[in-house]
Amino acid sequence: MADHILVLYGSYRSDRAGIRLAHYTTRNLCARGFEAELIDAKAIGLPMLDRMYKEYPSGQAPAAMETLAGKIRQADGFVFVTGEYNWGMQPGLKNLTDHFLEEWFWRPAGIVSYSAGRIGGARASLMWHGTLSEMGMVVISSTVTVGTITRTLSTEGQPIGEGGKALETSFVRFADDLAWWTEAARLQRERKQPPY
Ligand SMILES: Cc1cc2nc3c(=O)[nH]c(=O)nc-3n(C[C@H](O)[C@H](O)[C@H](O)COP(=O)(O)O)c2cc1C
Repeated sequence: MADHILVLYGSYRSDRAGIRLAHYTTRNLCARGFEAELIDAKAIGLPMLDRMYKEYPSGQAPAAMETLAGKIRQADGFVFVTGEYNWGMQPGLKNLTDHFLEEWFWRPAGIVSYSAGRIGGARASLMWHGTLSEMGMVVISSTVTVGTITRTLSTEGQPIGEGGKALETSFVRFADDLAWWTEAARLQRERKQPPY
C-alpha cells in the first residue's frame, strides 16, 4: 500500500498564491507513488487556539478537529507548504499545527516554502524546522524553496519558465528523500513500538 502523506497549507488570504504550490505538491507526490492529501487550514477552519485536541474530553472535540486528528495519526509523513509573512510563519498553518502534539510524533516531515520575492520563504522554512522537531517529527534535509511564486506556477499550479524548471528538478530529490524516510519510519514503527 502507498505511504500516506498529508500536505498542509495555511494561508487564509482571499488572493492567496501558495495554494498553487500546495496543489502542485499534492499532485506530484501522488505521481511519485504516494497517497497524498491536501489539508487546507482555511477550509478546515479550526478556531484560534483555545483548547488543544487532547484537552477536550474524549469524543467532545469539534468534528473538524476530531477528523483531522485521525488523519494525522494515520499519516506516514507530512509536507508543510509555507509562505512567509514579515520573516515569519503564516499564522493559519501554525494555528492548525499547534492544536495537536502527540498526533504528529514518529513521522518524517518535509518543508516546501515560497514567497513573492526571490528568497522563497527561506526564513519561514528555517523556523518550521525547529517547530516540527519540537513536535516530534523528523525533518528531512531536502527542502524546496520557490521564489516569485506567481511567475513560477500558473493559477492551475503548472510550472512556468526557468523557475518552474528549477522547481521540477528540486522536487524530484525532495520526494525521493521523503520516500526514503517515510519508508524507514514506517518499517521501524512496525518493527518496534515507539518508546513513548
Ligand atoms: C502580511 C504579509 C507579509 C509578508 N512578508 C513577506 C516576507 O517577510 N518575505 C517575503 O518574501 N514575502 C513576504 N510577503 C509576500 C508573500 O511572500 C506573498 O504575498 C505570498 O503570496 C504570500 O502567501 P499566500 O499568497 O499563500 O498568502 C508578505 C505578504 C503578506 C501578506
